[in-house]
This record gives sequence, C-alpha cells and structure tokens, in this order.
Amino acid sequence: MRHDHITSAKQLSRGDIERVLEHASDIADDPSAYADRHEEALLGLLFFEPSTRTKMSFAAAIKRLGGDVVDMGPVDASSVKKGESLADTVRVVEGYADALVLRHPSEGSAQMASEFVTVPLINAGDGAGQHPTQTLLDMYTIRENAGLDDLTIGIMGDLKYGRTVHSLAHALTNFDTRQHFISPETLKLPRNVRFDLHESGSTVKEHTKPGGILPSLDVLYVTRIQKERFPDESEYRAVAGEYQIDASTLTRADDDLTVMHPLPRVDEIAHDVDNTGHAAYFQQAHNGVPVRMALLDLVLGGEP
Ligand code: NCD
Repeated sequence: MRHDHITSAKQLSRGDIERVLEHASDIADDPSAYADRHEEALLGLLFFEPSTRTKMSFAAAIKRLGGDVVDMGPVDASSVKKGESLADTVRVVEGYADALVLRHPSEGSAQMASEFVTVPLINAGDGAGQHPTQTLLDMYTIRENAGLDDLTIGIMGDLKYGRTVHSLAHALTNFDTRQHFISPETLKLPRNVRFDLHESGSTVKEHTKPGGILPSLDVLYVTRIQKERFPDESEYRAVAGEYQIDASTLTRADDDLTVMHPLPRVDEIAHDVDNTGHAAYFQQAHNGVPVRMALLDLVLGGEP
C-alpha cells in the first residue's frame, strides 16, 4: 500500500484489509511505540463538507505518529471561494504535504483528484460514493465484536446515498458474510453497488422492514437518512422517522447483537440503546484513531 491512493473500498483485497486491521490492533496495544514513527510527516486536510470524526481522527492519527497537519480550513476561507478548481487545489497542496485527505460533495471527486497528484490521496468521502477509511474502522469494530467470518449483518437506513454503506458492502464481500439490506423502496442500494455484490457471489438480501431479520443478526449497522443529499426535501420527509431503533426493538434481537452507526446519528438510534450491551458506535468512532494511524503508516511507507 506504500504511496497508494486510497479512493475506494473496491481496491482493497482481503489481504490489504487484514494487514491494516492487524497493524491497527498492534498500534492500539502500544500506541507510544509509534509516537515518533513519522516525525517529519505532514498530512494535508481538504474538507469541502462538514466533518467531526473523520477530520479529527485523521488529525489525531498523524499527530500520534509524530507528524502534523496542514489544513485548508473552511471552504469559505479558501481560494475555492475565488473559483479555484479541485484539480488545481490538490496540485498546489501536494507541495505542502506528504499525503492528502479529501472529503468532497461530488461522487468520483477523489478518484479524479488522485489523477493529478503523486502523494497518496485518501478519500474521506466523495458525495454518495465511497468512504473507504470509515469501512476499515467499521471492519475493525466488527472484528472486535462479532468476527469477520460467518457473519450475518443487517445494514439499515439510507442505502442509496450512504457512502459508508457502499464501501462496507464491497469490503465485506472479501469475507464469509451474509448481508441483509433494510431500507424503504426509495432508499435501496444503487444499482451499480447491487450489481457488484451479486457479481462477487455474496449472499445479499433486501428487506423493507427490520423485524423479520433482526433475531438472526450478529451486527446491525444503522445509518442516518442523508437529508443534504436528497434532491427533493419532500422525498426526505416521506421517509424520515422510519427505521428507528430503540431498546424495546432490541428485545427481539440476539443478546450478542452489536449495534453500529458511522455517526452522526439524528434519531435513528434512541438514546436508551446507548447503555445497553449492544451499543458499539462510540467505540467504533474511537477506533478511527488506531485504524487511521495504521493506514497512514502503511501509505507513508512504514513497516508493520
Ligand atoms: C458519515 C459520512 O460522512 O459519510 N460520517 C462519518 O464519516 N462518520 C455518515 C453520515 O454523514 O451520515
């Protein structure tokens, strides 16, 4: 993975995923051993969309490896406001940093931008496209809680616009998993993602309600309805509020069910789930640091 761009979960083989997760687990066991690993490294942060977890955990990760960030800051305070193109922006910023992290509202933007730079470019979310580093921390969390083989997972919510879902679904096809997709008709998986999943030979089923499948799940991965990506707000209002999970819903689930969410949540998971043994979403968010440390170490050329 040395010097590779990481733009899609589709490019990650089972071996790549296992290498990152193993390395992340070594780092989590003894983070101080990596504190001066990349002392000179600068990570360029280019966030054209809001972010809390992804941006801050990338910053924490490079700092915990001994490096630092150079951050474009808010779009309104950058030259993007003057009309600078994304291609020009990344070509400039690659001169200031050893790797770039890009979040952008346009699907395909990370792939396009990566063609203009030689330093590794990591996709931190491209519109409704992909979010491969979220997937790596999701897989790390699944592995910790349920294991990655012989896994039955339900992925629920906004499957159409949810980039975390698209990336995770692809990555899971490398493992022995049964994937159940639960959403309203209007928010089903995009056709191209469904096609890829079927091509991979994986077990994939689609449902419009969680009830029937809930008792058989090892993991339930809940996502936010992405209001900002709906072309028409009335379409959003027609489905918002459906597919909510609370502690009483989970009485029908297996005692060992792990509930995950990439966060931010709005009202998909009630707060009464937080204190049950099912909730893994804060642990999942925290796992972003060791997993991103591992990935940065590998793309910047560290030896695991
Ligand atoms: C997600 C994203 O930005 O795609 N958040 C994240 O990175 N943890 C999910 C979302 O915004 O709903």
